[in-house]
Order: sequence, then C-alpha cells, then structure tokens
Amino acid sequence: MADLSVSIHKLQLKNPVTTASGTYGYGEEFVEFMDVNRLAAIFVKGITLEHREGNPYPRMAETASGMLNSVGLQNRGVDYFIQHIYPRVRNFDTHIIPNVNGSTIEDYVTVTRKLNEVKGIEAIELNISCPNVKAGGMAFGINRKSAMEATRAVRDVYDKTLIVKLSPNVTDIADMARAVVDAGADAISLVNTFLGMAINAETRRPILGTITGGLSGPAIKPIALRMVWDVFKAVKVPVIGMGGIMNAADAIEFILAGSTAIQVGTANFIDPAASVKILQGVKEYMARQGVSSVKELIGGMIVK
Ligand code: SIN
Repeated sequence: MADLSVSIHKLQLKNPVTTASGTYGYGEEFVEFMDVNRLAAIFVKGITLEHREGNPYPRMAETASGMLNSVGLQNRGVDYFIQHIYPRVRNFDTHIIPNVNGSTIEDYVTVTRKLNEVKGIEAIELNISCPNVKAGGMAFGINRKSAMEATRAVRDVYDKTLIVKLSPNVTDIADMARAVVDAGADAISLVNTFLGMAINAETRRPILGTITGGLSGPAIKPIALRMVWDVFKAVKVPVIGMGGIMNAADAIEFILAGSTAIQVGTANFIDPAASVKILQGVKEYMARQGVSSVKELIGGMIVK
C-alpha cells in the first residue's frame, strides 16, 4: 500500500487531496455524489464575522477554459457556522478547515478567536486574497505590510495550524510568501483567483454584477503552477497548491512543483466527484511510477 499521508505543520492529512474554499460548500452538499470521507480536508466557504448577502447578480461567468466569480463572501457569519453548520459536518472523517475573512484586522482576529475555541477544528485558512469585496480581502494580501499585519494579528490569537492564502495579483509572490511566514504563517496556500472581467459585446454591458471578478480554472493553471514553484523555493513551510487542477496529472504537477497538498476548486462545478477521481488517479500514478510515499514527489520536478 502506497503511503499517501502528508503533514501541514501540526495537521496530519491522510492524503494530499482537499477541496478549495467556495467551490465545495461545507461538504454536506456533496455526500450524494461521492464519499467525502475520502478527502484529506474540506476548506469550507469563506466565513466572516457577520452575515453577508454577497454581491449583486450575475456572480458567475464561464470563460475560455475557466470561470469568473464575484460571489462576495456570501455566508451567515461565524457564530452561525459554529452553532449550526459545523455540528452537521464535524463527524465527517476529514478535516474541516474554515476560510477566515474580514473587512478589518479586528474582524479577522475576532473570527479566529471564536474558531480557536472549537474542538475538532485544527487549522484555519486566512484569506487575505478575496478579490470580490470592497474592504479587506485582497486589499490586505497585495500589500506586504498589511499582509504581515493581518497574519501577525491572527497568529497572536491562534495556536493551531495557520495557513495563509495568497493572492496571485502581485508582482512578486515569493516575497509575499516570505513576508507572511515571517509574520507567523505555518503554511501557505496559493493561488486564489486572478482579477478579471468579461463584457457582453451585444449589450456592451459587463457580464458580472460587480464588473470584475476572480478567474479560476485551467486557464490559470500554468501561472499558478509557476507561482507554487516560486513559493516552494522561497519558504520552508508547507505549500498547498491550487489553480485549475482538473485531473490527477494536474495534481501531480502541483506536487512536483512543491505542493505538499492540493486543493481542487473549479473542477467541482463540472464534476462533483472530481476530487475523489483525482485521488484515485494519484494512487494509480504512484503505482505506475513505483512511488511508495507521496512525500517523495513533493518538489520532485527534475530540473537537470
Ligand atoms: C467570493 O466569495 O467572492 C470568493 C472568495 C475568494 O475569492 O476568496
């Protein structure tokens, strides 16, 4: 039996396949399509301090080899998550990892404090990279100083595994990774979506209600992969890679580029069982290549 287990700081994962925040609800929506217990972790929909209605519609648009979204962090707030949603999903045999958002640093800290008290939640993903909100989100993650401030403030109130999710909408992703690690991140996840837009030429109007949104899917994969490689070389903490992973070969590419684990995102909209098919494909790849532990593959791209 191949060893698929990996560690992200203190978090032990049974395999490297997880699902990306905002593409997989809270996991419970997927139980009729697949065995969610096979996943290593579910990064749940972004959580804020207060209930948010999200952005005006339309919020999604299909693009060539990808999609734009401008959801705007619609969710019912951290207290509702803790009291009503988490109890429904806590018995899945997988890690439930909240994606933490805020308009201010105080918001991030308050949400984190509350989650730190929840038994069974062993990690959070600090989202300083949402491109669809007027305050907070990506505004923190594209500036070195504010990215560090947000990370440090959350680090001060959180003693479990702190994963910081980076925006690709920066000039030097390796520098941003170094900055948040210096500020206390235990792991880095990347990439969130690229800021993009689409126009209906006939109506001459923007397709998204917010005009701009975040681009994901296979269209971004080569850039995301390069950014994972850049970050892998720049920091010593584990990297969780994502960006257009549609099949097992894509997942293996991200692992070879330096990802300890991967997140499946846009693929979930096309095939709700994509993540477990990817896991199966990773196992088959390892058998075919005679790899006994997935850890041997992390950052294993042969460059000479
Ligand atoms: C959204 O809810 O707008 C997407 C979240 C994100 O991109 O981080």
